[in-house]
Amino acid sequence: MCGIVGYTGRDQAVTYLLEGLRTLEYRGYDSAGVEVVGADGALHGVKCAGRVAALAERCETANLVGTTGIAHTRWATHGAPTDRNSHPHRDCSGRIAIVHNGIIENFRELRSYLQRNGHELASETDSEVIAHLIEEAWRGPAKGDLVAAVRNACRRLEGSWAIAAVCADAPGEVVCARNGSPLVVASAEGGAYAASDVTPLASVTSHVIQLENGQIARLESNGRVTVYDEDGAPVAHPATLDIDWDASAATLGGYSDFMAKEIAEQPEAIERLLGGRLGEKGIYLDELSMSQADLAAIDRVYLIACGTSYHVSLIARTLIQTWAKVQVVCDYASEFNYEQDVMVTPNTLCVIITQSGETADTLTAARRMRGMGCRVFAITNVLGSTAARESDGTLYVQAGPEVCVASTKAYTAQMVAAALLALRLAEARGEMDHAEVERHYRDLCALPNLIREVIGRSWQDKQAAPLFRRAHSALFLGRGVNSTTAYEGALKLKEISYLHAEAYPAGEMKHGPIALLEPGFPVVAIVPEDRVHDKTVSNIQEVIARGAVCVAVATDGDEAVASLVEHVLWIPPVPDELLVPIVAVVHLQLLARYVARARGCDVDKPRNLAKSVTVE
Ligand code: G6P
Repeated sequence: MCGIVGYTGRDQAVTYLLEGLRTLEYRGYDSAGVEVVGADGALHGVKCAGRVAALAERCETANLVGTTGIAHTRWATHGAPTDRNSHPHRDCSGRIAIVHNGIIENFRELRSYLQRNGHELASETDSEVIAHLIEEAWRGPAKGDLVAAVRNACRRLEGSWAIAAVCADAPGEVVCARNGSPLVVASAEGGAYAASDVTPLASVTSHVIQLENGQIARLESNGRVTVYDEDGAPVAHPATLDIDWDASAATLGGYSDFMAKEIAEQPEAIERLLGGRLGEKGIYLDELSMSQADLAAIDRVYLIACGTSYHVSLIARTLIQTWAKVQVVCDYASEFNYEQDVMVTPNTLCVIITQSGETADTLTAARRMRGMGCRVFAITNVLGSTAARESDGTLYVQAGPEVCVASTKAYTAQMVAAALLALRLAEARGEMDHAEVERHYRDLCALPNLIREVIGRSWQDKQAAPLFRRAHSALFLGRGVNSTTAYEGALKLKEISYLHAEAYPAGEMKHGPIALLEPGFPVVAIVPEDRVHDKTVSNIQEVIARGAVCVAVATDGDEAVASLVEHVLWIPPVPDELLVPIVAVVHLQLLARYVARARGCDVDKPRNLAKSVTVE
């Protein structure tokens, strides 16, 4: 949610800044802007509504010569996505500029205060106040020290922020501050760098500093990076992180879009996650950092997540309850945070599931649980993310950087991670013997090849896509674990094709959604060979009787379904019906992508969305 970058060094700043924005664009793409401290001692900036590509075009004709600068790509919160509201924002003198990711909750009070004191604010954003507060401090108590000025300004802020600031009177310096929103800095060949996450830094270094809340960093053009604590004392050993993937992992590598690439990467991601997880003693999940006795004592599991990760939690609930026989509660983080009926026992385990590890609602929920004395375990994809750092244990799903805003490979990998957790709990609680655990593990190991088969059948999704092209709405139906597959399929379609889609447990359709059906209405039914197969077939019949056009996800050889529906998306037989969602969803990812492309949508950067939602 908003991406920021900063650079000071020997090279032209605008080159790194624009490249950095391109790799961070998945965090928001309502507007973009760049500000450089020019060789003439003044700030020079360009900013505009729209994408980084539009900004880059404008930069070609602008005079952005300078080796220090900051840049921003925006996901609008306060103020429309206009040129005026784009970052960077300047102070009254035009000599200080800032970029900000987060929300300044007390910005109204600060705006009134600043206006009363003669400041002129040019935008409707909450962020602009930061530039003016730095200006006040710079002129006053900070006496021309940018670090002190930023610290002074931050003391007056409430909310969350990652900030990078430059000042024309402090050339060769970028000052960054963090509270709540992620920010990493690095000293590398060519200078000192800052970014919202490691993606833009992977091409220049494999070693970064992760700023902690309250810390401020000074980046100097000789490459030096100094981190200060809230009181201004230098931090001798700031938290560091080694980036373990090379920069090419976040490039298209021959694919037309990141969604296609990430769908294709699912089998390898799951293989990486499963590799070496079964030993003589059972499932290896040391990341839990819990003794056998503590695991055995768990009497309730809270699964908390948002978006696609929330759908993982629904599958995880079934796996944990079925295999480990522990009661599970699932909740959207944004709902959980305001619920009053949270029931925690001394043996409750909280599991947060978050691809980015930075989703604000999920982090707030985890903090709330910790505050209630609960152990928090994170399932995440991003190394060193806030979720990982603030949890008692972390399982990294190792899916590699996920760039497409709509999650695909993290979804399937997170479901597999949840299955490992369920097995580990089942084992610790004596609900499964070694042979059973081994059988389930083997079933999980079969998944990558089954997914490969589905990907090899993507032509089936391509053929089905025209059925949705002119539709205004679609209904997704499934039962049991595959009601979740229906939710995720509908979410994927809405996210990237802007086609309204609703998901319902198939048996519930007759209590309402059936009224939507009319001739030609597209319905996607997930109907694999499982215990509820025949019931779902009956629901398909009800749909077809109303003239709806049905596309079914069915198991190879299911002639009963094939003879009923317009189109079948075939899946190979899956050894355990509880694992079908991990295979079946791949068809729905592919289908959503083909429909979105047929409707002319940008599959990687759907409108209004952002990959990492760092505001509540
Ligand atoms: C955003 C993304 C979704 C994602 C959700 C939760 O809405 O667009 O793809 O599922 O955030 O993100 P998380 O990183 O916590 O899994």
